[in-house]
Amino acid sequence: MIDDVHPLDAETGLRPASVADAACLAASLTRSRAYMKPWEPVRPDSFYTPEGQRERLAGLLADRAAGRSMPWVLCDAGDRAVGAFTLNAIAFGAFRSAVLGYWVDVDLAGRGLATAAVRRICELARDELRLHRIEAGTVLDNTASQRVLAKCGFEEFGMAPSFLHIDGAWRDHRLFQRILHDGPVTGAEG
Ligand SMILES: CC(C)(COP(=O)(O)OP(=O)(O)OC[C@H]1O[C@@H](n2cnc3c(N)ncnc32)[C@H](O)[C@@H]1OP(=O)(O)O)[C@@H](O)C(=O)NCCC(=O)NCCS
Repeated sequence: MIDDVHPLDAETGLRPASVADAACLAASLTRSRAYMKPWEPVRPDSFYTPEGQRERLAGLLADRAAGRSMPWVLCDAGDRAVGAFTLNAIAFGAFRSAVLGYWVDVDLAGRGLATAAVRRICELARDELRLHRIEAGTVLDNTASQRVLAKCGFEEFGMAPSFLHIDGAWRDHRLFQRILHDGPVTGAEG
């Protein structure tokens, strides 16, 4: 299930990322660079190249193999990667939690795709990874991201001053979480 392609609308889907997505992700990130600038860390130019994305994906996939991360891409009708959704810092034990990050190509923004993808990821995190909770943080004025989280059932639980270095400065963040279930702790990881 977690390795399937999950349709989001007639043309797009969510599927696990692979190193083969590097060139499409580099092209999409380059197209979207100015659009994403207020909400992202300052990246070196190498980040926007296929080689930079190959290195990033290799690291993410090593983290996936170690159970620490689950990287998905948004794919279009031609199976080109045009966005990314990642559960990071996956923890098991008594926490069973992860931190969600995401972006969508500038040319596909505003079509409900982030909302559909985050909803699906919440289901997969609950049913496949057996997580209890997902957390996400946004800079104070990232209204689009806050709207996505609200539509997906996330609730604000705090404000973290000077939390992340975004667009060249340490920015306060609003913190959100969605409790996925309050059932028993299950799964091989304990
Ligand atoms: C945040 C992001 C992923 C949303 O993707 P998306 O596919 O456009 O999101 P959706 O279409 O599912 O929903 C966006 C919602 O925000 C609203 N929105 C968008 N821009 C807005 C703005 N400037 N002010 C208020 N609301 C806004 C939309 O109207 C929509 O809400 P609605 O369904 O109630 O009308 C995308 O804008 C993005 O990649 N941004 C840059 C990276 C980023 O911010 N990542 C998140 C970091 S926390």
